[in-house]
Amino acid sequence: MSLLLSLIALLISLLLFAARRSHGYWQRRGIPHDVPHPLFGNMKNWQKKKTIAQIFRDYYIKHKDSDYPFAGFYFFFQRNAVITDLDLVKRVLIKDFNHFENRGVFYNEIDDPLTGNLFSIEGQKWRHLRHKLTPTFTSGKMKHMFPIVVKVGEEMEKIFSDKTTLGQGQVLEIVDIVARYTADVIGNCAFGLNCNSLQDPKAEFVTIGKRAVNERRFGGLLDFLFFGFPILSRRLRLKINVQEVEDFYSRIVRETIDYRLKTKERRNDFMDSLIDMYQKEQGGNAEDGLSFNEVLAQAFIFFLAGFETSSTTMGFALYELAGNQDVQDKVRKEINNVIEKHNNEITYEGIKEMKYLEQVVMETLRKYPVLAHLTRMTESDFSPEDPKYFIAKGTMVVIPSLGIHYDPEIYPEPEKFKPERFTDEAIAARPACTWLPFGEGPRNCIGLRFGLMQTCVGLAYLIRGYTFSFAPETEEHIHFILSSVLLSAKNGIHLKVEKILK
Ligand code: HEM
Repeated sequence: MSLLLSLIALLISLLLFAARRSHGYWQRRGIPHDVPHPLFGNMKNWQKKKTIAQIFRDYYIKHKDSDYPFAGFYFFFQRNAVITDLDLVKRVLIKDFNHFENRGVFYNEIDDPLTGNLFSIEGQKWRHLRHKLTPTFTSGKMKHMFPIVVKVGEEMEKIFSDKTTLGQGQVLEIVDIVARYTADVIGNCAFGLNCNSLQDPKAEFVTIGKRAVNERRFGGLLDFLFFGFPILSRRLRLKINVQEVEDFYSRIVRETIDYRLKTKERRNDFMDSLIDMYQKEQGGNAEDGLSFNEVLAQAFIFFLAGFETSSTTMGFALYELAGNQDVQDKVRKEINNVIEKHNNEITYEGIKEMKYLEQVVMETLRKYPVLAHLTRMTESDFSPEDPKYFIAKGTMVVIPSLGIHYDPEIYPEPEKFKPERFTDEAIAARPACTWLPFGEGPRNCIGLRFGLMQTCVGLAYLIRGYTFSFAPETEEHIHFILSSVLLSAKNGIHLKVEKILK
């Protein structure tokens, strides 16, 4: 018994020693950092007071004027380098990308097939998959998918019309409706399904989609393992996605593939491209093809990455337009002029002509970059010859996008909503890597064009037909869900909506 107790005491002492040693890393290197909490590192306020991106934003603002290009940080026990110098941001994301090509997030494609997706996988496998999937997102492909987006946009307009009466303001929760629009668009394009989320608010696609974003196995208890020790979590063969989510998407992808192969139906959407690659694999061409599980994981990430990101962007844009009536009037004028020029229709070319609308979306994404921090794992020692820039292999590098977007030296009066910050001239006058809602470099968002297209189409329909303003229920400052990795309004966005007399 006493031997057992001694062993336990020894084990605890060893763990404490290892923890203290690990938390002494930045101190030993003389890199500026905040003193870590013995258990939580620099993450003490996570989920209690701040979102993860707000923690990195505040860290950036605090350390950006130091003599070093980054600050040391402990994500629990994992050492992170929070970049505070724009030149180093550019080196990490673009110039020296070969040191930093992975995100270092959890994936376990064997036990948890949904995680074998483009966002999470690493190394040669990622390079190969990115190369195979890039042609799926060309502007030609976007043009083919445009009619689907317009059709769903019209349906969303009808929902707004049903919920509002001419001349009378109605207070609506916006995020829920626009999330059903983006779920239907992506559901159509990635899964070839008419998900009917707009008509039926409880449609499985939306409810399961929300669970896929917000729910993790073990009720979030193992988050510190998934986020802090992704390699260990994989070795322990852990799964992060809940079973119902995996079963739902597996069933839908299986049914869609079977249906399309049987009927030979082609829709020119994401699923068509994935099925083409699936057929190559089935025909023995593994080099260019994708297995069923690979198709499943990509369809899943297209849905997840495309649904929540664009709908929250639309919600935040309408919130800002409600608070800035002059901008709202100006963008409505542009939308009406362009639509009139294009035979009173919303066309692909017309959307491209709506420059001010694009500026509104860009400024929205500056204030609310949905994924508000970027991560890269250091794959090999970076800059070993210069101690100031040296980042050791195995260090997680964090680009604090939210911090950069709120840096008053880059964007004066950062709290103000000013689409004028995104004229061609204003963009050209700013340094590179100062607008990062889609990331940058070879590992940036592959769906950027599609995301912008569906956001602009949805907004064009709504702004043309309705005015948006603050109601007593509208929050003066949006509260975010603190546990969510993506920026998301905790209480939704409630706005007064009035139908415009035509
Ligand atoms: C407003 C809409 C969107 C926003 C704000 C957004 C944002 C982002 C960001 C910040 C990243 C990480 C970039 C980096 O680390 O440098 C990313 C990656 C990614 N996004 Fe998006 N996204 C949007 C729409 C979409 C859509 C519509 C799709 C697909 C249909 C998509 C698919 C992906 C994928 C697959 C990745 C991983 C790329 C890789 O690692 O190679 N996103 N997105």
